Amino acid sequence: MGIFAPSVATTNKHLIRWVDKMADLCQPARIHWVDGSQAEYDYLCAELVKSGTFSRLNQELWPGCFYARSAPNDVARVEGRTFICSLSKDSAGPTNNWQDPFEMRRTLKGLFQDCMRGRTMYVLPFSMGPVGSPMSQIGVQLTDSAYVVVNMRIMARIGAPVFAEIDKDLKRVVPCMHTVGAPLAPGQKDVPWPCNDVKYIVHFPETREIWSYGSGYGGNALLGKKCFALRIASNIARDEGWMAEHMLVLGVESPTHEKTYVAAAFPSACGKTNLAMMIPPKGFVGWKVWTVGDDIAWIKPGADGQLHAINPEAGFFGVAPGTSAKTNPNAMATLARNSIFTNVALTPEGGVWWEGMTDEPPAELIDWQGERWTPEIGAKTGKPAAHPNGRFTAPASQCPTIDRDWEKPEGVPISAIIFGGRRASTMPLVYQAFNWSSGVYVGATMGSETTAAAAGETGKVRRDPMAMLPFCGYHMGDYFRHWLRMQRNLAATPRIFHVNWFRKDENGKFLWPGYAENMRVLKWIVDRVHGRALARETPIGWTPHFEDINWKGLTFPQAAFDKLQEVDRTAWRKEVMGHEELFLALHDHLPPEMIYERELLICRL
Ligand code: GTP
Ligand code: SPV
Ligand code: MN
Repeated sequence: MGIFAPSVATTNKHLIRWVDKMADLCQPARIHWVDGSQAEYDYLCAELVKSGTFSRLNQELWPGCFYARSAPNDVARVEGRTFICSLSKDSAGPTNNWQDPFEMRRTLKGLFQDCMRGRTMYVLPFSMGPVGSPMSQIGVQLTDSAYVVVNMRIMARIGAPVFAEIDKDLKRVVPCMHTVGAPLAPGQKDVPWPCNDVKYIVHFPETREIWSYGSGYGGNALLGKKCFALRIASNIARDEGWMAEHMLVLGVESPTHEKTYVAAAFPSACGKTNLAMMIPPKGFVGWKVWTVGDDIAWIKPGADGQLHAINPEAGFFGVAPGTSAKTNPNAMATLARNSIFTNVALTPEGGVWWEGMTDEPPAELIDWQGERWTPEIGAKTGKPAAHPNGRFTAPASQCPTIDRDWEKPEGVPISAIIFGGRRASTMPLVYQAFNWSSGVYVGATMGSETTAAAAGETGKVRRDPMAMLPFCGYHMGDYFRHWLRMQRNLAATPRIFHVNWFRKDENGKFLWPGYAENMRVLKWIVDRVHGRALARETPIGWTPHFEDINWKGLTFPQAAFDKLQEVDRTAWRKEVMGHEELFLALHDHLPPEMIYERELLICRL
C-alpha cells in the first residue's frame, strides 16, 4: 500500500531532502509516500473506518461511499486565520491578513515542532490540471491526515504519475505543509476528527509555499484547492500573464451544435456548482449545458488571441444542503458512488440526507454532530440535521454532463464571463457591462451576502471583488490592474455580465425560481455573445427586454420580470457609496480606470 521507500517514488534529491527536513521538524511515527493507486485508497479508507473518522455507508445504496463528521470547531474555511505573508505588507494589501514572514516562520516552526508525533506523514504529490498540461502546476503536500489524502485523490491528480512529472524537473514544485495539530502521545487513543483550536492558514507568495495548521476541513486542509489554485496561483498568474479565478466553467450547446464556453465567478455557496451542472428546462429542446469545472478556473490567452480556461481540479467539493434530484440532478448522479460526505446527516439505513434533498425529511436521523434528530427535534431546537456547509467530495469524471474537452491540455475558449452575488435587493437578474473596463468595474465592485462556507456571521452584504476577496493572494488594487491589462494580449475579449438569482420581494421570498430556469438567462447571454439578442441600455449596462428572454415552459408575468430587472436609481446611488468604501481602502493601488468607471456610472445615474 503506497510506496514506502522514497527511492521508489522519486529520484528528485531536493524533494527527498525537503521531506527529510520536514520529518525532522514534525517527528512523525512513519512516512508514507503516496502512489495514488486504488489499492492504496481502499487501504486508507479502511484505516479511516478503523480509527472512527469514516463510516462506510450502506454499499447497496451508496456504493464506494464514506461518511465523516468533523469536530464542531472545524466546519468551514477560517478567513480570520488566513494569512498572506509577503515580504512587504503593501503587497498583501488591506483585504488580506498580513504578518511579517520572518515572524510567521518563527511561529510556524514552533507550532510544527513535533506536531506529527504518533501519526503518519503522507508525502502527497499532486498536479493541479491534467498531468503534463502546459497550464498545470505541481505541489507536494506533507500531511498527517489520511482524510486529506483520500479527499485529495478525488479533488486532484495525485501519486506516481506526478512523482514522474517532478522527476522531469520541468516545473517548480510548490511545497505545502499541513498538520491537524494533534500529536499523539505513546498509547494515546485518537479522536475521530483530530484538529486544534489554534488555526493558521499561511501563504508565502514570494517563495510560493503554503503552511496550514490545526484544521482538517475543506479549503483549510485540501491545499491544492483555495490555498494553491487561487492564493498562490493568483501570484504566479500575475507574474506570468494569466488568471487564477474562483470560477465555474461550462459549455452551452445549441440545437445546431454551436458550443459557447462561459466562466462565472460567484462567491462561496452562491451557485457555481448548480450553474455548472444545470439541465435546461423543458422549453429548451436541443440545448445542452456541459460541465468543465465548478469552482476554479485557470485562464490564459491562447495562440488564437482568445482566453482559454482549464479546470485545475479533478473533483467537486460541493455544498450538500439544497442539492436534490430537482435542483441539481447531475450533482446527485455524480455523488451517488465513490464519494465522501462530511457533516451531513445519516439515515437509519446507512445512507445520507441533508436539508433540501427531499421535500419531507426522514422520520429519524443522526445529525452531523452524531445526535439523534427528528423533524420535531429540529423544529424545537432550530438545529438542522446537516451542517449548512456540509459537503460531498465527488469525482468530476462521474458527472453525466462532464464536457468532452474538460481535460484538454490547452483548455476551452471563453466567450463570456459572468459575475454574480447573493443580493436581496438592488441588483437585477441580469445585465451586460458596456465593455471590458466597465466589466472589470462590475466585477471589482461585486457585493454578496456572507454564507456558511466561511466561519463567521452569515447574511451580511460585503464587497467581494470577482468572488476573490478571501482568495486573492496579493493587493486587490493590483489584481484589478492585472484584469485591465489582460485585455492588451487579446484579439477578442469575452463579454462581461452580472447576474443575481437571489433578489427577494417585500416578504423575503425569492423573485426568481433559479436553478434550471437560469438557462433562460444563460441563453440570452450566449445570444448576446453571438450578436443575436437585443437589449435595452440602462445606467448600469445592457439588460434584456421581457421579449428578449425565451419563456417557453414557464409562466412568468412581465410585471414580475420588470420587478426583477428594476434598476432603482436611489438604491444604486447608495450602492456606489459601497464601491467607494472599497476603493478608499485600496486607493494607493487603485487603477485610474476604476475611478473613471465610477464617475461614468454616477453620471448615468
Ligand atoms: P462553493 O462550493 O462554496 O464555492 O459554492 P458554489 O458557488 O458552488 O454554490 P452551490 O452551487 O453549491 O450553491 C450554494 C447554495 O445556493 C445551495 O444551497 C444551492 O441550493 C443554492 N442555489 C444555487 N443556485 C441557486 C439558484 O439559482 N437560486 C436559489 N434560490 N438558490 C440557489
Ligand atoms: C468555498 O468556500 O468557496 C469552497 C469550499 O469552494 S472550500 O474548499 O472549503 O474553500
Ligand atoms: Mn468555492
